[in-house]
Amino acid sequence: MSRAWFISFEGIDGAGKSTHIEGLSTWFQNRGYRVTLTREPGGTPLAEKFRELALHESMDPLTEALLMFAARREHLLNVIEPALARGDVVLCDRFTDATFAYQGGGRGFDWSVLQSLEKMVQKVPATELRQPDLTIWFDLPPEVAAQRLSTARVPDKFESQPLSFFQNVREGYAKRMQASPKRFAQISADQTREGVWTDVLHAIEKAYTA
Ligand code: TYD
Repeated sequence: MSRAWFISFEGIDGAGKSTHIEGLSTWFQNRGYRVTLTREPGGTPLAEKFRELALHESMDPLTEALLMFAARREHLLNVIEPALARGDVVLCDRFTDATFAYQGGGRGFDWSVLQSLEKMVQKVPATELRQPDLTIWFDLPPEVAAQRLSTARVPDKFESQPLSFFQNVREGYAKRMQASPKRFAQISADQTREGVWTDVLHAIEKAYTA
């Protein structure tokens, strides 16, 4: 692996991606890579303020989508792009596919408007359209995720949505994967933590040797 890599992690709430992202950060560092570990919405002081609003205030779907993309623009220019320019491995807990899945799939917001916003927001000096090199999708049936979440902390605005919302989010991810099959690695999160970790490493190794 000789160049900067941008890896995003996706899935419905309760899919259990956080522990694996942290594990991967250590995994890369043990192999001598510099890692930037970050998340969306958020990753900068201003984008974290947008996150606070997006996750806890109810709002019109367009406002919500704009807020996600506003946070993304801020994050891209101030964290992701500089990290990639330094040659870091960037591990990002959610990126633009989450907007398509949650606002597009879950909320039913206009897909083509999201595509226009994506083109505008992800155009950066280094490239016409910044996208992750690899997106690991922790896929889980919403019923299983709901069971896992029921024992977790107080739910935020999205986590408290009904099952049907998450079915639509899942379909949103599937639609994104269909459009960019090479970028996506779909992993079943409905197995033991060790099983998921093995699949994550396999996806990383496969992407690096491709
Ligand atoms: P999440 O990444 O699951 O963090 P935590 O583990 O701290 O809850 O929470 C972010 C929430 O924001 C999640 O419910 C998905 C939602 N979201 C969107 O609706 N659109 C987006 O574009 C992004 C990045 C996240």
